[in-house]
Amino acid sequence: MLAGGDGEAAAKLLELIVALGEVFGAERLVPVESAHIAGVSYKNLGEAGLEWLVEQADLGARAHILATLNPAGMDMEEWEAMGVPPEFAEGQRRVIATFERMGVEPTCTCTPYLVGHVPELGSQVAWAESSAVCYVNSVIGARTNRESGPTTLASAVTGLAALYGYRLDENRRPGAVVELGVELKSIMEYSALGYLTGKKLGTTVPYYVGLGKPAMESMKALGAACATSGGIALWHGEGVTPEAEGMESFIDGLEKLSVERADLDEEIARLTQPLEDPLIALGCPHASLGEMAEIAKLVKGRDMGGNLWVFTNRGVYDEAEAAGHVGVIEEAGGRVYRDTCMVVAPVKEMGWKEVATNSFKAGHYMANMRLRTRMGTIRELLTEVL
Ligand code: F3S
Repeated sequence: MLAGGDGEAAAKLLELIVALGEVFGAERLVPVESAHIAGVSYKNLGEAGLEWLVEQADLGARAHILATLNPAGMDMEEWEAMGVPPEFAEGQRRVIATFERMGVEPTCTCTPYLVGHVPELGSQVAWAESSAVCYVNSVIGARTNRESGPTTLASAVTGLAALYGYRLDENRRPGAVVELGVELKSIMEYSALGYLTGKKLGTTVPYYVGLGKPAMESMKALGAACATSGGIALWHGEGVTPEAEGMESFIDGLEKLSVERADLDEEIARLTQPLEDPLIALGCPHASLGEMAEIAKLVKGRDMGGNLWVFTNRGVYDEAEAAGHVGVIEEAGGRVYRDTCMVVAPVKEMGWKEVATNSFKAGHYMANMRLRTRMGTIRELLTEVL
């Protein structure tokens, strides 16, 4: 393949994987079963990034394994209603068309595992997007490093990755124990815990004790947050995640972090200011059907005055539409957008100055963009903010 037997694109992309493997001391390559590709929003790619993608497609790059796409910078159909400028929309359309030309499924979501992309326990995959990486490593128990846009495309085309990092047993062991002295009751509290963990531990693999019985939505929120404030790509939860059971023998003598209610309240307070006319942004990571149902129930018959945006993927949207949730949210003056989210869409350019959210990942990035933020549970945001 390196010599060009599978075409020029495959040779160049494999060179990238080999170079990474050399940097990280990988002994060999390993086949990967699927790829989840980031670097999709035209906001981040710009013309230079788009040109690189077109060049790969022109050279014959084609996905040879299941490959899905991360969110784009807009809802691919409803972009006008979102207020996205036409020139941005044109750039974004060209990005998606180029990925489709390369055989990548235009899922445009950070929760590909909610639309059928669910790898086997222990399988090697190549995923990008920090929250998706954290989920697939921790909750599903497949193996990936925190890949980038180019390396995931390279793996999609070659079917290979370099064997290092979280692909190896020894690097999946916990490096610290996080003991919960508080019962977590909402997705937002799991998100706060993740945010605190990432801040305290950086990239160390946490082993949570006392996590309760988190729902899938809470686990996706936890991983998204600890991959935001830190670089955590994998966590274990005693009695919760599939690899935790084999890890007890490695936790003796590890650094311990205790988390109490006051610690979570402090994180919530840091990203919470009084707001006057906020966008309530939910669905980071992309909302599940259960979250859509909860939101619909809370806004039914109310007037959110255009201040509620919910982000999800096309698969969940279709299910939520069939169940009537999308109709209820829209009748209440909310909008449900697909393919994108509050962080990759040009929210600030659209005139929003304040964002209320239950996701510390979203809150973190909104605050970095100098928007005023407020954290709250879905119920608090939908019943107390407007
Ligand atoms: Fe997903 Fe966007 Fe949040 S990509 S994890 S919804 S910042």
